[in-house]
Amino acid sequence: MTQDELKGLVGQAALQYVVPGEIVGVGTGSTVNKFIEALATMKDRVRGAVSSSVASTERLRAIGIRVFDANDVDELAVYIDGADEIDAQGHMIKGGGAALTREKIVAAQSRRFVCIADESKLVKVLGAFPVPVEVIPMATARIARQFAAMGGKAQVRMKDGAPLVTDNGQHILDVSGLQIAQPLAFESEVNQWPGVVTVGVFAHQKASVCLLGTASGVRTLDCQGAGAAA
Ligand code: 5RP
Repeated sequence: MTQDELKGLVGQAALQYVVPGEIVGVGTGSTVNKFIEALATMKDRVRGAVSSSVASTERLRAIGIRVFDANDVDELAVYIDGADEIDAQGHMIKGGGAALTREKIVAAQSRRFVCIADESKLVKVLGAFPVPVEVIPMATARIARQFAAMGGKAQVRMKDGAPLVTDNGQHILDVSGLQIAQPLAFESEVNQWPGVVTVGVFAHQKASVCLLGTASGVRTLDCQGAGAAA
C-alpha cells in the first residue's frame, strides 16, 4: 500500500469518532485532507467544523461544511489531526504544515484528540523530525541561539526565496538535532521563551487515540492514561 493509501485508510477510519449533530475540530495536512474528503459523505450529519488553518477552511467550505470561528464555540467533542511524529504515549511533533499554533488552540478546546497518521510517524523518542516553532520574527536569532545551547540547529523555514509567513503572520524555525525524552518539560520550557508563539511539541495537548495506517489495516493506539497530560 502507498503512503497516500495509508493516509486514506485512516482518514476514512476517523469518521467513526465524529459525533453526529456536533461541531468537529479539523486539523491540517495531507492526512487531514483525506479525512475531509471522507467527511463529505456525512456532511449533512455534522453541525459544522472549527478549522486549524486557512487551507483546511477552504477545503471544508468547498464540500459544503460550515466553518465556525473558535471564539463562537465552547468545547468540541473531538479534534482530528495528523502528526509528523507520535510516540506510544500520544506525544507528538506537529507543524510540518506550519499550522501548529491554531492546531494547538483547537486541540486545547477539544475533549478528545484523534491523531491520524501512517505508521512511519510512530517513534520511540521524538526529535528525528525537526521541531517546528512559530516565532515572532524579531526574536528569531535569539531563539536560535537558545536552541543551539541545547544542541539544536534552528533554520528559518523558507518559501519562494523568503521566510514562510504563517496564517498568523509569523515565521517558523525548524529545529533539528534534538532528542526530546521529556516532551512535557520541553514544551513548557520552550513555550515560555520570549518571542516563541508556539512550539510544535504537543505533550500538554497530546493525542487521546492514534489511528495508524499499516499494510494490514488500521492499528488503534490508545494513548489515554499512557503518560500524564497536564
Ligand atoms: C500541519 C501538521 C500536520 O498534521 C503534520 O505536518 C502531518 O502532515 P501530513 O498529514 O501531511 O503528513 O502538523 O501543521
